[in-house]
Amino acid sequence: MKSAPGRTTLNTKQDRVSAANNSRTVRLNRPNRPRRLRRTRVIRDLAAETHLTTAGMIQPYFVCEGAGIKDEIAGLPGIYRESVDSLAESIAADLKIGIDKVMLFGVTGRKDADASFASHPDNPVLRACRELKERFADELFVAADVCLCAYTDSGHCGIIEHGEVNNDKSAAILADMSLALAETGCDCLAPSDMMDGRVGQIRNALEEQGFTNTIIMAYTAKYSSAYYGPFREAAQSAPQSGDRKSYQMDPRNQTEALKEMQLDIAEGADIVMVKPALAYLDVIAKCSEQADVPLAAFNVSGEYASVKALSKQGFADEASLALENLTAIRRAGASIILTYHLRDILKHGWIER
Ligand code: PBG
Ligand code: ZN
Repeated sequence: MKSAPGRTTLNTKQDRVSAANNSRTVRLNRPNRPRRLRRTRVIRDLAAETHLTTAGMIQPYFVCEGAGIKDEIAGLPGIYRESVDSLAESIAADLKIGIDKVMLFGVTGRKDADASFASHPDNPVLRACRELKERFADELFVAADVCLCAYTDSGHCGIIEHGEVNNDKSAAILADMSLALAETGCDCLAPSDMMDGRVGQIRNALEEQGFTNTIIMAYTAKYSSAYYGPFREAAQSAPQSGDRKSYQMDPRNQTEALKEMQLDIAEGADIVMVKPALAYLDVIAKCSEQADVPLAAFNVSGEYASVKALSKQGFADEASLALENLTAIRRAGASIILTYHLRDILKHGWIER
């Protein structure tokens, strides 16, 4: 009796004998059989090079004005736009399941040419930071996105002058916004605007005012990407005209990321970031070779929404997809990952805490 190729169930003694005979006759006598280390779950765990843990993961949140608001974001199932009161409750619940690192994004209708609401005490992000640090102190790490696109009437990440984004004026306003955030006790500022020199401006302002413990996690290699679509809808921050190509990086470039990283570290960034993550794994790998600070990657809105859509249609298992993506990001070299998946991972126990 001949066993079929790839056959693994040996039902009868006759089967086993013929399998043994077959293996005797076709044995390759190989010194190396990589499959040995893939045979059982326990052996696979032993041989694994990459271990995904949630310790380096950060959960993003969207915070808006008003009270009692918690609206699910259309493009980001499971992610909400919340007023400060609701956000504090959500984060209290999330802390219980193990989310102790958060990133806040502001959503507001108060927009003008100078992004003046960015540093206004009523800005929901500033209010949220104050509330969260008062309530949770150092049990919760609070990072805030530092950018002007949610506050400019143009929807651009900087201030428009003579039809262009004015770099230095924008950097000065970003430094003001950073100081306002630092005053609330916010642990970490994450400038996502891509203006030249803004990390240095922010670091100088912090040092001058005595905020020597405030961490800067710079969006260092932030690409001009179509994967931000669901985020822009969520934050109501899409540019009113044009695109972000004059400040965000060109997806065709890799070397430039190394230049940006060198600059951000020299200007005082504590952590550098590559964004998006999945289409830029080569950039993560290159940066991680050269970084002498922790490297973060942002698993962005469009990447999350793709996983949700594919699994909702029944074409893939959500946990498997999400963990495969996050493993790839970690394997490429990012030790910190910003990901919308974090709550699902902990809630459903996809990986141990
Ligand atoms: C603001 C900002 C964006 C994201 C983070 N900060 C959008 C953009 O630059 O257009 C994207 C995050 C995501 O897609 O999840 N500058
Ligand atoms: Zn922006």
